[in-house]
Amino acid sequence: AVFEATVTAPVNIAVIKYWGKRDSTLILPTNSSLSVTLSQDHLRTRTTIRASPTFDRDRLWLNGAEEDVSASKRLVNAITTARRLRAEVEKQQTDAVPLSQWPVHVSSENNFPTAAGLASSASGYAALVSALAALFELPQSASELSRVARVGSGSACRSMFGGFVAWQAGVAADGSDSLAVQVADHTHWPELQALILVVSDRKKTVSSTAGMQTTVETSALFPERVRAVVPGRMEAMQKAIAERDFATFAALTMQDSNQFHAVCLDTYPPISYMNDTSRSIAALVHAFNAAVGRTAAAYTYDAGPNAVIYALESDMRDLVELFAYCFPRAEDTAPDAFYPNPLGLF
Ligand code: DP6
Repeated sequence: AVFEATVTAPVNIAVIKYWGKRDSTLILPTNSSLSVTLSQDHLRTRTTIRASPTFDRDRLWLNGAEEDVSASKRLVNAITTARRLRAEVEKQQTDAVPLSQWPVHVSSENNFPTAAGLASSASGYAALVSALAALFELPQSASELSRVARVGSGSACRSMFGGFVAWQAGVAADGSDSLAVQVADHTHWPELQALILVVSDRKKTVSSTAGMQTTVETSALFPERVRAVVPGRMEAMQKAIAERDFATFAALTMQDSNQFHAVCLDTYPPISYMNDTSRSIAALVHAFNAAVGRTAAAYTYDAGPNAVIYALESDMRDLVELFAYCFPRAEDTAPDAFYPNPLGLF
């Protein structure tokens, strides 16, 4: 017998950044964060899981190439956690198929280049956990399942929902209150769009996991961000989203990206994820906003040089033209791909 489930999961881009852990095994963050889930038309992970008593061990294929499952503690943790939930189902339904005992074969594919550093771990772990939940017929809600995705990669918990999603940091040592909640669904603000400017598709030099650990250990500015800045921004951002107040949403997004990159520079040794092209794009966004006399566009950068631009649909055409004009394709020092992404959900 072979039991099988296939799901897809979307990418999310944080507008209030997660950076720093208080527990690196359970992946518990030092601060809450908030993200926008992108439509799956352009960026998504599709994962198929098969379970069978005839398989001899758990195996994983990423974009067709086999990976060593046992080498990834996080992957093992996520699968083990899902199996524990399945075992509860089997205890309650004595005629349930003993899927929790069977090895699984996981096959996962992205419809975008993994190397481009476009949040592939977020959609990847969200897809893994959603596929396990479907296969195991788990009764848990998306928020409860987000705790399982979280132990794979922190930002993955936010990809369990479409629309606008908050990851509540929580205070419990066991991680029970560190989960994702949907702030508004994908129909709430259909005019909001995201544009991804691929500045470089080289693999990042310092991984998020390693970088945030060094920041927690060495940055003097970081505790101030966590204590005095992020809580107020989480509130203000949720209000801006509720009111569809783009100017406030955009200003908070840019300020939070800038502060995240400032604490990276304050890390010792310093980490710089943005390059000259990234900084030129940020300057161009500010110049555009000044020229039109309102905050019409926002940029945000994760742990790499690629820019994500947020704007309303009515301004996006002008922005795409402007970026294409100012950054004509030239090796990998200029943005070489544009992906207009109307927001949406799974
Ligand atoms: C800069 O979720 O990749 O993208 O929990 O160690 O897997 P781990 O880190 P990860 O970090 C993402 C950091 C970020 C900001 C964000 O997405 O909030």
